[in-house]
Amino acid sequence: MRNKLVVGNWKMHGARAANAELLSALLAARPFALDVAVCVPFVYIHETAATLAGSDLRWGAQDVSQHEQGAYTGEVSAAMLAEAGCRYAIVGHSERRAYHGESDQLVADKAQAALAKGVTPIVCVGETLAQRDADETEAVVKRQLSVVIHQLAHCASEIVVAYEPVWAIGTGRTASPEQAQAVHHVLRAQLHAATGHGDKMKILYGGSVKADNAKTLFAQPDIDGGLIGGASLKAVDFIAICRA
Ligand code: PGA
Repeated sequence: MRNKLVVGNWKMHGARAANAELLSALLAARPFALDVAVCVPFVYIHETAATLAGSDLRWGAQDVSQHEQGAYTGEVSAAMLAEAGCRYAIVGHSERRAYHGESDQLVADKAQAALAKGVTPIVCVGETLAQRDADETEAVVKRQLSVVIHQLAHCASEIVVAYEPVWAIGTGRTASPEQAQAVHHVLRAQLHAATGHGDKMKILYGGSVKADNAKTLFAQPDIDGGLIGGASLKAVDFIAICRA
């Protein structure tokens, strides 16, 4: 049995007072029947850690450097995240692939750097609308994931995968439960073939998950929870998703 997991991705949103309010509402809403985490901007990680420490809520970052340390101005290392108690680091989010030119290889390097310090990478994969329309969805997500699997070799079973169709992110257009399940099924088969542990690995769905669609999405056999952007910024919405 895989525990469900819901992760909030705050992206570049937040402010100290609003964060404190959001986190205390989450703490007050516990217990949840699934695992819950928030991935916050780097600058808020320590405060988030201080607020959530001792609870069953986890926290993480939205990116991590592929380098261990050194002259990499502006980068944050996996060791720093580990020291700040991060359980997770999102890697390969489509916004980073699109706006920062992150390649499949770089995403794999980042996943490896995170795992080496005991931080679980949440590896995002997903197709654009043009790729879906051209019937390339399966090929695209399998290619994105295969580079990570190949690089991590025997450690690949320790990652979390997030399927996030680019056309569904922040657009209000969600993949239907059937569309999402079909891709999750493909990804799980790929993970299983590579690691032998695909049945134990978590595959989250992300892309306009809201309180009213979370339940049917999470009920799909290969969907183990969600990576939530916009709806993770409002306590009532995020809590409703965590209860879905
Ligand atoms: P969204 O974002 O829920 O706002 O669509 C999801 C994500 O980008 O992780």
